[in-house]
Amino acid sequence: MIEKVGIIGAGTMGSGIAQVAATAGCVVKIFDTQKDALDKAKLSLEKILSRLVEKGRIDTDEKNRIQTNIRYVSTLKDLADSNLTIEAIVENLDIKKKVFQELESYVSKECIIASNTSSLSIASIASSLQKPERCVGIHFFNPAPLMQLVEVIPAIQTSETTLETSVKTIKDWGKVVAIAKDTPGFIVNRVARPFYGEALRIYEEGIANFATIDWAIKSKGGFKMGPFELMDFIGNDVNYTVTETVFGAFYFDPRYKPSFTQKRFAEAGYLGRKSGKGYYNYAEDATNSVAKENDALGKQIFERLLVMLINEAADALFWNIASAEDIDNAMTKGVNYPKGLLAWADEKGIDWCVATMDTLYDEYHEDRYRCSPLLRKMKSKKEKFFN
Ligand code: NAI
Repeated sequence: MIEKVGIIGAGTMGSGIAQVAATAGCVVKIFDTQKDALDKAKLSLEKILSRLVEKGRIDTDEKNRIQTNIRYVSTLKDLADSNLTIEAIVENLDIKKKVFQELESYVSKECIIASNTSSLSIASIASSLQKPERCVGIHFFNPAPLMQLVEVIPAIQTSETTLETSVKTIKDWGKVVAIAKDTPGFIVNRVARPFYGEALRIYEEGIANFATIDWAIKSKGGFKMGPFELMDFIGNDVNYTVTETVFGAFYFDPRYKPSFTQKRFAEAGYLGRKSGKGYYNYAEDATNSVAKENDALGKQIFERLLVMLINEAADALFWNIASAEDIDNAMTKGVNYPKGLLAWADEKGIDWCVATMDTLYDEYHEDRYRCSPLLRKMKSKKEKFFN
């Protein structure tokens, strides 16, 4: 039973994870090298909890309980009595490895040492430890207290006990766990790539403007945000970097090729909401392009994007990245897709998925549009993902 949790890094993710663990009743110690970051985390938690009290979601006793469960500490050594530590510091392998080595010299030999990394391999992080079998990826989504999904990623070194305890703990914290193989992007950051990449490609081919593509995806697909709105929300710099990292990590598989459009937007400082301008202009008096609400065009755009997402999800299953249930849960609970992609494939029909991919391939003759072998096999056997 995990009672004492150590969090390293008090930024966006670390402070959110601390709130989740403290709310679930764990005693949490959070460490950061920057005192400012600790002060900011404390202040922001006070604001978040006060808002929850105002809304009647928690009472003041609960607020006090959560706050007293979190201690803000100034040395890594203060985390010595933790049963589980979760690292959420800067995304840099060398720095993470150094911190893990130092941490291991303080904690007990049973303590689980986890990383919240989005893009580094867990095997490489684990290799810095004397006992790499205690290392695991525990990947939360932003904002951690609100997003239900947590990907748990065992490295090849991770022991069964480490994995089991981690999964049980995260479930006890009220989260939905998807177990993912230690491969680039895990589940969500891999399967979601076409949502951005194919939308950018449709724009670059001159098929439609940003507003029309967003309108198509929301009105025909039921997504809460269109791809361009979402990229503006995430930040074009951050989203471009994830795509570039995944592309490189897959040895330049053309399916993940980044877009020049997004690169230029990032270079120009058109980062999205945070810079006031991205694919849309966020100034109060700004005029933005409007959607061309043409049903046939909307359907064509939505179906092209959907089939690329389905193909990516099917391929993730083909490569045993996760189970079909976990792949669908990951996309609905990690990035709020209206439906699981594999369930969506069943609904549209596997024949439709294969035929639509093949039409794209025939048109472009690019490897990007290759149909997953799993979809082809399922078509010939008349199988579905779920019965
Ligand atoms: P952030 O920049 O908000 O916070 C990082 C914190 O770590 C800073 O307060 C910094 O002072 C501290 N730090 C840096 N080096 C340190 C060290 N050696 N020891 C202790 N503290 C140190 O970053 P954010 O966004 O919270 O990301 C943290 C990790 O979580 C990264 O690995 C990132 O890839 C991952 N992640 C981020 C998500 C996001 O949407 N921001 C989502 C899921 C994972």
